[in-house]
Amino acid sequence: MRKKIVAGNWKMNNNLGETEALLSKLLKKMPETDAEVMVAPPFISLRLAFDTLVQSPVEVVAQNMHFAENGAYTGEISADMLKSAGIQTVILGHSERRAYFNETDESLAKKIDAALRHDMTAIFCFGEELEDRKSDNHFKVVEKQLKNALFHLKASAWKNIILAYEPVWAIGTGETATPEQAQEMHKFIRKTIAENYNEKVADGVSILYGGSVKPENAKEIFSQPDVDGGLIGGASLKAKDFVAIVDAI
Ligand code: G3P
Repeated sequence: MRKKIVAGNWKMNNNLGETEALLSKLLKKMPETDAEVMVAPPFISLRLAFDTLVQSPVEVVAQNMHFAENGAYTGEISADMLKSAGIQTVILGHSERRAYFNETDESLAKKIDAALRHDMTAIFCFGEELEDRKSDNHFKVVEKQLKNALFHLKASAWKNIILAYEPVWAIGTGETATPEQAQEMHKFIRKTIAENYNEKVADGVSILYGGSVKPENAKEIFSQPDVDGGLIGGASLKAKDFVAIVDAI
């Protein structure tokens, strides 16, 4: 049975004081749930968040990492550094990193390999642009992103992979994909994995939806058979909203 997951991607928000305040509200309000709950603060707060949440069911996740073990990469963070801070899971390939920091499928394949070398779990983000969907190329685009970054992996490595389908046109726009659009793409993703590997791998991987998930739309999206949870941006910065989304899964 694959895992249900709700992860909050804080992006570049919350300094150390704001992080403490938000985490303390989350700890007070977090409902009982069978789902896995994760928060991804900026690098500077990872150790603080780990120490604050280590006794709680909420996991702390990094928003990125470099593929090198160490070296002359000013400003970057390695898998080993994340592990030394207690971090076991990392978001890779977010569309904002692809857009603003020239992340490519090839560099992401190297990051995936580095995360797996350190026995980390990777939340791999991918999704089409609006013009891809308008030109009916969205399935082709998504399939290419998956194949180029992940399909070199052996089947056993997929136990460390979580997928996050995030249509770029829905991120931060309030334009959420309809539950039907989300289910259609998630079903396609699972079919593509089954064709490239087998049903066991395809059925075992959690596929999260990301893109303007809010308390008012979460339940309907999460109720889709191939949607296993959400990667939440803006709404994860408000304890009440994030907790309501967790409650919806
Ligand atoms: O990684 C999640 C994020 O891209 C979604 O952002 O604000 O549309 O929930 P938002």
